[in-house]
Formats: sequence, structure tokens, C-alpha cells
Amino acid sequence: MSFFEYKTHIEKGDLVLAFINRTTIKPIYIKTGEILQTKYGHYLHDSMIGMPYGSQMSGAKGYGFIYLLFPTPEMWTLSLPHRTQIVYTPDSSYILQRLNVKPGSRVIEAGTGSASFTHAFARTVGLSGHVFTYEFHENRYIEAKKELELHGLVNTTIAYRDVCNDGLDIENLDIQGDVVFLDLPSPWSAIPHLNSVISSKKRVGICCFSPCIEQVTKTITALEENGWLNIEMVEVGALRWEARKRMKRSVSSAISRIKDIQERKKQGIESFKNGEKPQKLAKVDDEGFLSAKKSARVKEGDDGYEWLDVTKPESEIKSHTSYLTFAHKLN
Ligand SMILES: C[S@@+](CC[C@H](N)C(=O)[O-])C[C@H]1O[C@@H](n2cnc3c(N)ncnc32)[C@H](O)[C@@H]1O
Repeated sequence: MSFFEYKTHIEKGDLVLAFINRTTIKPIYIKTGEILQTKYGHYLHDSMIGMPYGSQMSGAKGYGFIYLLFPTPEMWTLSLPHRTQIVYTPDSSYILQRLNVKPGSRVIEAGTGSASFTHAFARTVGLSGHVFTYEFHENRYIEAKKELELHGLVNTTIAYRDVCNDGLDIENLDIQGDVVFLDLPSPWSAIPHLNSVISSKKRVGICCFSPCIEQVTKTITALEENGWLNIEMVEVGALRWEARKRMKRSVSSAISRIKDIQERKKQGIESFKNGEKPQKLAKVDDEGFLSAKKSARVKEGDDGYEWLDVTKPESEIKSHTSYLTFAHKLN
């Protein structure tokens, strides 16, 4: 299989993203005789062979189900084995657009890390473009190289190199990058080495991805000293919204429940006789809806209750927020 070309049916050796639930997606390479164990039952790789990507698959014992998904860079980012912090889709999508990455672009990326962004770059530049990615941690380099090969990213070259000390030239390769992405602890040490590998014919864009503002300050100084223009720093924040079910309750029962809770809080105690277990109270929110998730006894969507479909944003931004420093250069 390849991230470039969608295929309809699963074959031996293919990568499948097993969608177990909203927060658990497990990447598996299909091998005869292997079994995927989950808390929702187990699933035989042998039975997956021949199934269409996108299928819902029942557990081998008849309970539970998972979905067998075709990998995309976005889904891979959510499921890949983390070897480092990674760049998530809210940042990578913005960076791709801001740097005008398109089919045919030649991207220079350092470091590779877990190769999350490398997959997004590779798909965007397509087979007419190329991604040169650099990693100086030996094990991360080996793992990333293996993955890039397994995923058919033939437009990507990974180099085992310390770009801050040894530069970015690769023997016998005319790199001529028109896009640079640096996700390194000290991008300012790599910036002076860029001249020999960036295009002399096109306007080149750069993005440096740094979690700390002190790094941004040093990066901007290095960019200015090395002739980069149009410098701008941005932070991206994305908030996902999710659909849930909230239990409908009558206003009067909600009010009496709130009063009950307030009374217990005021007393500061709940007395339990003869080893009787304390009964956990379901939480009632300001609108009088019972939040089933917090309840010990009622599960979201349980029969016998009336439910209302609601949407709410997640309570925190989960993307790895960094500062994105952009600049451009005409060599
Ligand atoms: C945060 S990770 C990159 C994550 C990557 N952007 C992703 O989305 O998966 C930073 C990586 O840079 C590598 N690195 C740090 N300094 C380096 C250098 N001087 N040369 C090459 N790689 C370097 C680290 O080993 C680490 O794997």
C-alpha cells in the first residue's frame, strides 16, 4: 500500500488503522496468524485480508466491533508511535498553506522526529516534488526510514545528520529546496547552513516551530542576520467540537436535586450506616441536564431515559502549541 494511492481491499502486509474508539486508533500491519487484542474483543488479521477498507468488523467472539481504515497523514498523526513530540494537523495544515507547499515543491525538513509532518509534506508535494528530511538521533532515523519505506513515500529522502553542526548538503544530491521547516531545539544554528541547499531561482519560505518565546527571539535574530525577510510569528489554536447526548430532566426534579446536593455540601458530611456504600450522585449542570458521563450508574444513551443531542467544545486545546516563525528569502 502507499499513502499516495487509495486501494479498496486489504491485503497481507498492508497498513490498516484500526479505529477502536474516538480516542484509540491502532496502526497494524496485516500478518497471517496475528491477532489484534482490544478491550472490545479480538480480531484476526487473517479475517481482515480481502475486506474493503472502511469496513466495520465484528470481534472474533461475536461481541464488539472496530473499523478498518485506510491511512491518511491526518489519521496517521493521530495513531503513529510517538518517538518525540509531533506536529498536529491544526499546525501542519496552516504551515502548508502559509508556505504555499504544492505538488512539485521541494521541502527541507529537520528534524524528522516521529515523521508526523513528513507524511503530510510527502502527500502534498506528490510524486513531482520531493521531501528531504534530517534526523540526528540514530534510532529515530532508523525507525522513520523504515516507516517511510513501508508507506511507499518514494518522494522522500531521509538523511542521518546533525544539521546544526554538519549542514544540510547530501552527497550527489542537488537539493534546491523552496520550502524549509525546522522543528529543532536550536533552529538558529541551522539557519546559516541553508544557503547552500535552498533554491537560487525561487522565493523560498521558512517556518521554524518552537515551543518557547526565547527560541523565537534567537531564531528571528538568525533569520535577520542571514537575509530572510517578511518575518512574522503566529500561534495556531484549534478547538474541536464533539457531539454528545445529555439526559433530559424536568426542571422541578433538577431543582430538587440541586437543593439536595447543596444541602449535603453545607453539612459537609454524608452518613452511611453499617457499611452501606455511599451512593454517587449524578452531576446536574446549570441547565438542569444530568451529565451521564460523570454518573456512576447511568451510561450515555442508556434505554429508559430521554436524551438530547448536544454539541460542546473540548475543554482544552490538545494540539502541541508552538510558536510558528515564518520568513521568506530570495537567494
Ligand atoms: C520535536 S521532534 C520533530 C517532530 C516532527 N516535526 C514530527 O512532526 O514528528 C525534533 C527532532 O529533531 C531532532 N533533532 C534535534 N536537533 C537536531 C539536529 N541538530 N540535527 C538533526 N536532527 C535534530 C531530534 O532528535 C528530534 O527527533
